[in-house]
Amino acid sequence: MTQHDRLLIIDFGSQVTQLIARRLRELNVYCEIHPYNKVDDAFLKSFAPKAVILSGGPDSVTRAGSPRAPEALWSFGVPVLGICYGQQTMMQQLGGLVEHGHGTAEFGRAFVTPTNDNLSILDGWFADGREQVWMSHGDHVSKIAPGFQVYGTSPNAPFAVTADPARHFYAVQFHPEVHHTPKGAKLYENFVKLAGFSGDWTMDAYREQAIAAIRAQVGDKKVICALSGGVDSSVTAILIHEAIGDQLTCVFVDHGLLRLGEAEQVVAMFSDNYNLNLIHADESELFLSKLEGVSDPETKRKIIGGLFIDVFQKYANGIEGAEFLAQGTLYPDVIESVSFSGGPSVTIKSHHNVGGLPAKMGLKLVEPLRELFKDEVRALGRELGLPASFIGRHPFPGPGLAIRCPGEITTEKLDILRQADAVYIDQIRKHGLYDEIWQAFAAILPMKTVGVMGDGRTYDYALALRAVTSVDGMTADTYPFSHDFLGETMTRIINEVKGVNRVFYDITSKPPGTIELE
Ligand code: XMP
Repeated sequence: MTQHDRLLIIDFGSQVTQLIARRLRELNVYCEIHPYNKVDDAFLKSFAPKAVILSGGPDSVTRAGSPRAPEALWSFGVPVLGICYGQQTMMQQLGGLVEHGHGTAEFGRAFVTPTNDNLSILDGWFADGREQVWMSHGDHVSKIAPGFQVYGTSPNAPFAVTADPARHFYAVQFHPEVHHTPKGAKLYENFVKLAGFSGDWTMDAYREQAIAAIRAQVGDKKVICALSGGVDSSVTAILIHEAIGDQLTCVFVDHGLLRLGEAEQVVAMFSDNYNLNLIHADESELFLSKLEGVSDPETKRKIIGGLFIDVFQKYANGIEGAEFLAQGTLYPDVIESVSFSGGPSVTIKSHHNVGGLPAKMGLKLVEPLRELFKDEVRALGRELGLPASFIGRHPFPGPGLAIRCPGEITTEKLDILRQADAVYIDQIRKHGLYDEIWQAFAAILPMKTVGVMGDGRTYDYALALRAVTSVDGMTADTYPFSHDFLGETMTRIINEVKGVNRVFYDITSKPPGTIELE
């Protein structure tokens, strides 16, 4: 669908391939990641990249049958940059030699010194005679391919930077995409510049293009969208609404597990500001009745996920002629689902999303955020005029407060939790800490404890407060609130929320904990 210059990243399975895409997007370059085993000569031709990057990977090019770049790449006539495994396969395929191990593995920080810095991708490097890089390799190149020259070396990688400038082939042993290679972004900038990219991948251009694509895909048909009030589904809905207006109907399933005033806020924002067809499906009684007496976390998640699909389907059936389902699928989800190395991993929690809907409903998908990373979705949201306070909201899980109420869920506990959470978040905002924190929330613990208030004995619920910093939710650290802040928050919660007489601050990082309690 895109008319932008395209860069192809061939993925050999590195843990950090996505970061290459991030760095390129920051340079306003459009790129896609495709696993090596899906990229053959025909694919290369039809993708028509203006440049190609070969990622790192866990395999050894010395192993028979290990991954390779398509042969057609070497005569395709566009600049190629090989990184780590990508560098090694480039050397091997072009007539060089790679050796396994022999005490020359390098993991972590290293310094590259120039042997010849007359190379355009190194412009602006080596200001201090050497440059810090991040290495992670067991194998190393022992003989470079004909036509290549050495431009930089490190103690354990004599061919840390090599190139054949005439053919525009560049190869580095280190990982320029990670933050531990401080000038890595500059290397990518130089590479895309020499490849002739104009940097035309801007949010404004994306918005125009996405709107045109939605109109072309949907025609005069109807689209339905499950709106959760989160950033992804909200941006999806508003973008599609801008493209097709009244042909879109959104269904907001209120499962009764939302935060204080949240349902009203979501409905008001979309109805008042965007004049969007919105069905507020208040099904809280249904969800809460099915959850009665259930305390097992996975059972809760399965009940909520299953009911969500049933309820959404019920409302969707009422929208005559709907042929499309809009989903806020992001690029990381797309990559994960096609990744060749994505073996089955252990299920820690069954995440609740609308992924089960399309197959069950026989609807075609509209996924206008498929090419975007989370921060790009936020930028698009700003472009579409969503309020900054809304775009910057902390993530909120699909199963809502159910997983912040370990043990049995009751309306009494949910009420207490809603009020306490609101006080806690108010405190965080008042102290100007909200934007420093990835996620903060209160959870109500499945126990009562004894306390003393005034002259009387109390026997009330205990609360856990949680606040973490994180970049992607995969790992997290506890936010280091001051004791004064925690003390003041405890006092406010006990004074303002009836039914709580004890407050804990959860100091568990992830791992070993998870962010949510269930
Ligand atoms: P955990 O608890 O697994 O959470 O460390 C990581 C991030 O995911 C969010 N989360 C969910 N999001 N559906 C969602 O949409 C879910 O079922 C779900 N469970 C956890 C959690 O809030 C955190 O941001």
